[in-house]
Amino acid sequence: MGLPLTVDAWPAGSVRTERLLLRAPEVRDRQEFLDLGSDPVVNLHLGGGQDRATLEATLPAVPAARPAQYVMERDGRFLGWIGLSRRESDRPGGSSVDGLGPEGVLELSYVLPVHAWGHGYATEACAALLQTSDERLGEPVVLCTQVGNTRSRVLADRLGFTELARFEEFCAEQWFGVRR
Ligand SMILES: CC(C)(COP(=O)(O)OP(=O)(O)OC[C@H]1O[C@@H](n2cnc3c(N)ncnc32)[C@H](O)[C@@H]1OP(=O)(O)O)[C@@H](O)C(=O)NCCC(=O)NCCS
Repeated sequence: MGLPLTVDAWPAGSVRTERLLLRAPEVRDRQEFLDLGSDPVVNLHLGGGQDRATLEATLPAVPAARPAQYVMERDGRFLGWIGLSRRESDRPGGSSVDGLGPEGVLELSYVLPVHAWGHGYATEACAALLQTSDERLGEPVVLCTQVGNTRSRVLADRLGFTELARFEEFCAEQWFGVRR
């Protein structure tokens, strides 16, 4: 999941978009994170779903409890998770963006349950997160997704990411894009 952003670099609190509430993860979200992490369809391009019992034993009480990590919610219904973290510079692509400091490049991630696909929720939430990032940090953001992850590639394109490189990681060919 990369390295966390420093707390003072990122505004606390929740964000409202046209249809969504983006809020910090809470204890009550753990079940949804377990469902997400063990769903083989959701994780088809993320190395496959994890065994639920293993995940149950290892997932923290509050999953993804770090700055710039949000649960997406509409009318109280969990619709997934999105976040910004810092990509370790020793990972592929981690040092390939010009003009960055040693902290590691900002990386966008998103995972939605299948019932939330096809509604534009990821686009809406990511656009809000990128706007905050532009205003607050003003740095390029990267995104890494399997070449074969068509939905994610379309989303990346829609959000304004352009291809920077392709490489092998986690036994799959990855598309690595940047939004400047
Ligand atoms: C990648 C992922 C987030 C994409 O989800 P998605 O639903 O395709 O993306 P969006 O939420 O932006 O929705 C776009 C779709 O909603 C439709 N849509 C409906 N209402 C819309 C609206 N109001 N605004 C925008 N789009 C809307 C679009 O036409 C598009 O439809 P399509 O699927 O027929 O092309 C999702 O497939 C996922 O979570 N996958 C598993 C996790 C994963 O692989 N993550 C990548 C890790 S980097």
